[in-house]
Amino acid sequence: MAIRQSEPLVGRAAELAEFSTEEFGRRVLAETDRFRVVIAALEDGQEIPRHAPPLDMVMTIVEGIGQVMAGDQVHAVRAGDVVIVPAGQTRGLRAIGGRLVTVNVVSPPPGPGDHAGSATAWPVDEEVPDVGALILEEHAGLFPHLDHLGSLASDATTLGEGELRTRLREVLAFLRDDLLPHAREEEVSVYPAAEKVLRAVGGATRTMSIDHRFVGQMVGELSALGEGLLSSANKERIRRLLYGLQAVLQVHFTKENEVYVPLLNRLSPSERHQLHDRLSGGDGGDQNHHKES
Ligand SMILES: [Fe+2]
Ligand SMILES: [Fe+2]
Repeated sequence: MAIRQSEPLVGRAAELAEFSTEEFGRRVLAETDRFRVVIAALEDGQEIPRHAPPLDMVMTIVEGIGQVMAGDQVHAVRAGDVVIVPAGQTRGLRAIGGRLVTVNVVSPPPGPGDHAGSATAWPVDEEVPDVGALILEEHAGLFPHLDHLGSLASDATTLGEGELRTRLREVLAFLRDDLLPHAREEEVSVYPAAEKVLRAVGGATRTMSIDHRFVGQMVGELSALGEGLLSSANKERIRRLLYGLQAVLQVHFTKENEVYVPLLNRLSPSERHQLHDRLSGGDGGDQNHHKES
């Protein structure tokens, strides 16, 4: 089953990976007298047992997050990390929280007895705090204040000057003392932490899709209101929705312009052709005439 590799091979490792429900997926990409290259594909929780064959190994994590055993130490690893284990020392791998794909180069190529050594169990996981729950709790405390913003917006034009100032002071106290510090803390701790994981598992555009979902819901509400009775309460809801849509869309377009548009110019030429055809209404269907060579 080993592939004699005499031709160069270029591919996206995560796409060459083959997963398996038994043990873990492994695909031999290349084998010569000097080395063997395997793509290991682990489903969440799967592992490569710890073993210590007489082979030098370089492992590059290309997708996901997990733990690696290198020598007598367990290390947390994620996409982008590289692991080198000299011959005779223990190595092992396990996926945590989702799929994990690695490219493993071993030299010399394994012989019949090289993987027969006894595999040892992973150490028991230490207790770790639930950071996500902490942030959800903080947001749950902030959410109710958003209603105050809306109701003050509604009342702003009819309130007397004194009352308006008082309520504005309350709202500003929340915004300055709770909301802005919360946002600043996220900038220095939560976002950099999320960024590390996003780099390994992707998903950075999901926040934008959530914007689209909100915009869709607001448009739906607005059209329903437009069809119905234009009572003063409904006029008020229409006004709130229009202001809300304006704010959400301003932020949304700014995010696309500042973050996503510059990324698109880093796509490969064929990917750019394909996307350009689609967006300009050309024939996005024919993918052959932009083949990269
Ligand atoms: Fe937040
Ligand atoms: Fe958009």
